[in-house]
Amino acid sequence: MDGNGRWAKARGKERIFGHIEGAESVRACLEAAVEDGVKYLSLYAFSEENWGRPQAEVNGLMELLIKYIQEEIDNMMSHHVRFVVLGHRERLSEKVNALIDEGMAKTASNDGTTLIVFLSYSGKWDILQAMKKAACELSPEQFQALEIKDFDRYLVTAGIPDPDFLIRTSGELRISNYLLWQTAYTEFYFTDTLWPDFRKPQFREALAEYARRDRRYGKVK
Ligand code: IPE
Ligand code: MG
Repeated sequence: MDGNGRWAKARGKERIFGHIEGAESVRACLEAAVEDGVKYLSLYAFSEENWGRPQAEVNGLMELLIKYIQEEIDNMMSHHVRFVVLGHRERLSEKVNALIDEGMAKTASNDGTTLIVFLSYSGKWDILQAMKKAACELSPEQFQALEIKDFDRYLVTAGIPDPDFLIRTSGELRISNYLLWQTAYTEFYFTDTLWPDFRKPQFREALAEYARRDRRYGKVK
């Protein structure tokens, strides 16, 4: 979800207004995902690198996150949405973590769309923490015998299928340390639309483009 700051700047406003408007896009895209039967909707909301932004912006984003969770959990319940947060949770405040835990517990048995919000996430961090976890859990022999298909279970996304489709807004053409391992065969979609302008029609246009992709996984069809 990229381009909130530029969206605000183009209107002569502070960056936080872009983030506030971006939260509306989250609502809209989640609604479209639920309506269209998307099983998993993942949002890269805050990266490990984003901690390096000015403190006021980090605080503003955390406040928005708190507000979003407080306002949306009931709505998620009525739409059978399961809310999941993944990332380096230790870096989040106690208040944010408590709200996340509460939201996750409340929605845990919902069987509709799973909404995964990646917070304080980094793809390299995920791979490293997975390797450390595997090294702790397994004997040296088991560790040596570890196969690619068995590595998934140590990543924070354990049990969640790899993404079929990845949308990046705002014209940037990079992955910015998002799901590095998990996107090995993901279809990418880049659009110049800034995240606050990315609403239901844009989401559905992207899904239509996905439907036209020919996925061969390196094989011949
Ligand atoms: C994306 O918008 C939101 C977050 C990373 C939290 P940006 O804040 O990156 O907006 P630009 O890239 O400065 O326009
Ligand atoms: Mg950006």
